[in-house]
Amino acid sequence: MKLNYKFPENFLWGAASSGPQSEGAANIDGKGESIWDYWYSTNPELFFNEVGPSDTSTFYKNYKEDIKLMKKVGLNSFRTSIQWSRLMPDKTSKVNFEAVKFYNNVIDEMLSNGILPIMNLHHFDMPMWAQKLGGWESREVVNYYVQYAKACFRLFGDRVKFWTTFNEPVVTPEMGYLGDWHYPCIVDGKRAVQVAYHEILASAIAISEYHKMDCSKDGSIGIILNLMPTYPKDYEKENVKAANIQDLFYNRAFLDPSVLGEYPQELIDLLKENGALPKYEQKDIETIKKNTVDFLGVNYYCPRRAQARTEKLDVDVFTPEIYFENYVWPMAKMNKYRGWEIYEEGVYDICDNIMKNYGNIPFFISENGMGVEGEERFINEKGQVEDLYRIDFVKDHLKSLHKGIEAGANCFGYHMWTFIDNWSWRNAYKNRYGFVSLDLKTQKRTIKKSGEWFKKVSKNNGFN
Ligand code: BG6
Repeated sequence: MKLNYKFPENFLWGAASSGPQSEGAANIDGKGESIWDYWYSTNPELFFNEVGPSDTSTFYKNYKEDIKLMKKVGLNSFRTSIQWSRLMPDKTSKVNFEAVKFYNNVIDEMLSNGILPIMNLHHFDMPMWAQKLGGWESREVVNYYVQYAKACFRLFGDRVKFWTTFNEPVVTPEMGYLGDWHYPCIVDGKRAVQVAYHEILASAIAISEYHKMDCSKDGSIGIILNLMPTYPKDYEKENVKAANIQDLFYNRAFLDPSVLGEYPQELIDLLKENGALPKYEQKDIETIKKNTVDFLGVNYYCPRRAQARTEKLDVDVFTPEIYFENYVWPMAKMNKYRGWEIYEEGVYDICDNIMKNYGNIPFFISENGMGVEGEERFINEKGQVEDLYRIDFVKDHLKSLHKGIEAGANCFGYHMWTFIDNWSWRNAYKNRYGFVSLDLKTQKRTIKKSGEWFKKVSKNNGFN
């Protein structure tokens, strides 16, 4: 079939989720507490409609049926994460065999259904025992994470051939140490920098350990970053400078060490200027240099827009925000439910950036999607959500990705966030993202219009 938007051979058409957002079963079969389980137990009122992490989409129980549904929606690949707190419920780092059994079953079931598993190791879900040791502020926790990563490679690496060390490592420092949206709700830029640094160090050491193992011979390891192209308000020098600094803190602080093996000098200078350099050991520089990723996962929802500060920000502790302000573009198309700008051209700009500045490293779009509140409004007489807005959203982003691939970008897949509506942290089930809708009360799953559409796209490897 001649298609206007045809994608490269063996393209991955899939979806992404994470353990804490889909498994449920937070308190059974020996699982330990993660920071989310703990936080919900102390402050349920902080979560939308007080729905917590044990009431997620019951993947722990229903994984077999769900994997069959994945096939029905045409997915040839699926990314989820192992919950560290399920595999290693306490500080002894002893493996929980119920968890091993569960993840083995999931991996085997995916493979026998022709679905490539991509396994992520950390998705904002620090075990509570490790948080008590200081979380990512603590170097000791880096060592514990490496033990955990090695155990995962050893236990599942014979069958899992795509690993990622982190999902969106910027979120923990940004939401948990610069803002108070995620636990532990500390607002201190210096501590945020230490957290971000330890995540990158942990990722590099895990990569080095993976590459030493036999199972890595036919496997690869990467990291998932939410690259948000950062645009200045206009071409005024001060605004361009503000956008560049925002880009350094929120994108390049993760992208450069992960792909190029070193931090941008401009970022180091800014941190020095503010007395905010993290504690590090000399040997780390070599570790980060030598252990770059084999591929990138790129999550893309929206861009950032910046302008110079209109007023000086008076703060007692360092924050990158002293250098810029967010700018709201009056022409922006908005997803009003999530408050995120919809800007499909951002996908092309990401491709362009990776081609020009990051050696055209292989990457896949590891998340893209549209969270919508009140989707029951769109249920038709057959009981199906007619989410035509989601089809348009995905089409527009795929067109932009296609343009990037035509220009030479080395992109090998597109994953939707998400497969079945899942638990969105503090937003719980407020906004729905799935190809498959979930009735929270009955746990009934129904494929949405977008799921049917995606099946055709995957089958044809493109669309018109
Ligand atoms: C990504 C995360 O940033 O966005 C997911 O990797 C998250 O965990 C998704 O669920 C959608 O964002 P939210 O906040 O609406 O759930």
